[in-house]
Amino acid sequence: MNYFEYRENELWCEEVPVAEIAEQVGTPFYLYSIRTLKRHFDVFDSAFNALPHIVCFSVKANSNLAILKMFINEGAGVDIVSGGELYRALRAGVDPGKVVYSGVGKREDEIRFALESDILMFNVESSQELEVINSCAEAMKKKARISLRVNPDVDPLTHPHISTGLKKNKFGIDIERSLDEYRRAVKLKYVDIVGVDCHIGSQITEVSPFADALDRLKELIFLLRRDGLEIQYLDLGGGLGISYDQETPPHPEEYAKVIIDKSRDIDCIFILEPGRVIVGNAGVLVSRVLYTKHNSERNFVIVDAGMNDLIRPSLYDAYHHIQPVIKEERGEFVADVVGPICESGDYLAKDRVIPELKRGDLVAVMSSGAYSFSMSSNYNSRPRVPEVLVKDGQFYIIKRRETYEDLIRGESVPNILL
Ligand code: LLP
Repeated sequence: MNYFEYRENELWCEEVPVAEIAEQVGTPFYLYSIRTLKRHFDVFDSAFNALPHIVCFSVKANSNLAILKMFINEGAGVDIVSGGELYRALRAGVDPGKVVYSGVGKREDEIRFALESDILMFNVESSQELEVINSCAEAMKKKARISLRVNPDVDPLTHPHISTGLKKNKFGIDIERSLDEYRRAVKLKYVDIVGVDCHIGSQITEVSPFADALDRLKELIFLLRRDGLEIQYLDLGGGLGISYDQETPPHPEEYAKVIIDKSRDIDCIFILEPGRVIVGNAGVLVSRVLYTKHNSERNFVIVDAGMNDLIRPSLYDAYHHIQPVIKEERGEFVADVVGPICESGDYLAKDRVIPELKRGDLVAVMSSGAYSFSMSSNYNSRPRVPEVLVKDGQFYIIKRRETYEDLIRGESVPNILL
């Protein structure tokens, strides 16, 4: 459920007509509904009320400061994967005691930054990383709280590019090896083992992979506790999917119920790292049709947003529903909706039945709140687009449109070329 709705054939976001924002802000732009964000967060968070838990919003899904701040105000922590994400989250006012840090390639400077900030825990992804964290902590005369990210080898039944919990994926430490790895960690003086972590993939639309992963993690926790380790946290990662098209993912309550039912006998604080399920359907990308053209094979609708603004269709062949901001009495046609980038892979929709769009029409690319702006780039030297947040009848620019000057910030021409 979200707050992007048609009123008399015109798309509104909460109490504001989308076309009015387009008039004032120009296109393209990302548009988020705060009511939707808040609702999604609250539904997810309260679904786990029966367990002690922290919802650590996955910053990579949507990293805008205002959005982070909104979740932090609701009590969220964050899941980060870089020093940059930690910086953002701290700037947004996160409680460092609710920050978990995953990622296979943490640099030493990033590890030191996280140690200085006193984050809740590192989710360690390899033996070498464990050593490096231990030595960074030693140099700083601190103890690093850690859990190992174990790879439970379950098939998340999702797109291969976004599945992470299989042996062939680069993430985590094989569950069979993890007990030995924990025993090695016990010997390291500057790490404190506090938890067990996994993340099996993204856009998962079934509950069973989560249930399987949890079963494996539980077994491991029992073994570790038998070894005398105090495992306080069980981090189940993120991954719950959303409906872009026809998918029917479990409701967060259904997902939570399966986890709660399986968790009565483990006394742990649960950490959940949702990203997409909270923000995905709380945002749209608004773009304007620049041209339409037709060749002997196809109809093309050329819009002013391209793969640099929203790369998911090009990268994963992802489906995003495209709808006109103002519905007109027109027929439909089959078309490719493409951007201005000089690549054939620059499309938002392929072979799609859509209303017959015309030059000047506004379109909304739906379900663009997650991995959309955060994956955008300046390719083709296109300034990144603004992000706009609606609350009730007002809208706020939470990231301004980049200028040409922004494009060359930090670049310099050395003297030898002058
Ligand atoms: N925790 C960890 C350690 C992760 O790697 C991820 C996502 C999450 C949590 C959040 O997962 P979510 O709840 O959003 O599924 N760019 C791709 C998705 C990549 C996901 C990467 N990891 C896409 O656009 O579909």
